[in-house]
Amino acid sequence: MNAKSHVVDVIAGDGIGQEVIPAAIRCVEAATRHHGVTISWRHRDWGSDYYQRHGRMMPVDGIEQLADGDAIFLGAVGTLDVPDDITLWGLLIPIRRSFHQYVNLRPVRMLPGVQAPLARKPPIDIVVVRENVEGEYSEVGGRLYRGRPEEMAVQEAVFTRGGVTRVAEYAANLSAQRSGRLVSATKSNGIIHTMPFWDEVVSEAIGGVDGVSVEHVLIDALAARVALRPESLDVIVASNLFGDILSDLAAAIAGSIGVAPSANLNPPRRYPSMFEPVHGSAPDIAGQGIANPVGTMWAAAMMLEHLGSPEAAASLVSAFESALRDGVRTRDLGGQASTDSFTEDVLRRLE
Ligand code: NAI
Ligand code: MG
Repeated sequence: MNAKSHVVDVIAGDGIGQEVIPAAIRCVEAATRHHGVTISWRHRDWGSDYYQRHGRMMPVDGIEQLADGDAIFLGAVGTLDVPDDITLWGLLIPIRRSFHQYVNLRPVRMLPGVQAPLARKPPIDIVVVRENVEGEYSEVGGRLYRGRPEEMAVQEAVFTRGGVTRVAEYAANLSAQRSGRLVSATKSNGIIHTMPFWDEVVSEAIGGVDGVSVEHVLIDALAARVALRPESLDVIVASNLFGDILSDLAAAIAGSIGVAPSANLNPPRRYPSMFEPVHGSAPDIAGQGIANPVGTMWAAAMMLEHLGSPEAAASLVSAFESALRDGVRTRDLGGQASTDSFTEDVLRRLE
């Protein structure tokens, strides 16, 4: 076994980020111990508290500070007293964009012992590949005549050939390792410039990957299909907005947003990638010690895999899966476990 060491920047952030990140770190420590992997964690106190003190979500040179690390492990950002556009555009979006984390990978599986809200026979096993740096979440646009009757707002979507090609290629290669059935989310009937362009570039990009076929599905029909026939879906490639919405929907039908992980990847590995749960800071339950840490633990496992330690990743996943299978669950899954007691249980299984 080769000894490996990695530097990981930790931004626990706000709300339950402060609860689920320490829980997941303890489990990563236990999972890596037996596999010759050591991680040095660089804890960053960035987020909304930092904003209250400094007027920014992270230091001016925050991006430079993160640049020489191997990965970023993020909880969530967002509080009731700081507007969401500040928390998002002050930290999360600059990290995703500066580090060209153009793939947002969101796997959705029905975990053992987790009751899905809609009764299901065939298990759900979907990966949403969301375009993560362009598309509908652009800075192009503006507002005119604020507060007047003629007030207006314009928001432009930005799609580039390079940006669509690289995310489609990533999705096609992933699909080739799975079923080869790739679904692309579109709306080319209603959005008449960017979405036909998306369809064309996706088809071209996928043409070169053996054994993969693409089905273009309109986003509204696709939303219904995620709810009604999720077993007919495997890998879905989607623009920034569509992928955001679809992955929350898929996570919800698989059981809980609290178990959903997310990886913001820079596939060429020129920059650090970032791993986080899909959920936000959950101010409604923050500080109560009841947050489900599974989404964050699963995100940590994706990070270990990305860092080249698949065995440690697999042991972490089987530990939380076996806890769930044995009925150890937090309240969002209908159980009684606290964040701590669930984590202690996972740690025992990692011994
Ligand atoms: P949210 O994901 O924080 O919460 C939605 C609902 O799910 C809440 O009822 C919450 O209690 C529950 N929930 C979420 N995670 C859970 C967990 N691990 N265990 C048990 N229950 C869980 O989304 P919401 O309420 O829309 O946003 C709250 C704040 O988080 C906002 O400021 C928002 O901007 C921010 N946010 C940040 C994200 C990020 O940092 N990546 C992503 C999504 C939202
Ligand atoms: Mg979202």
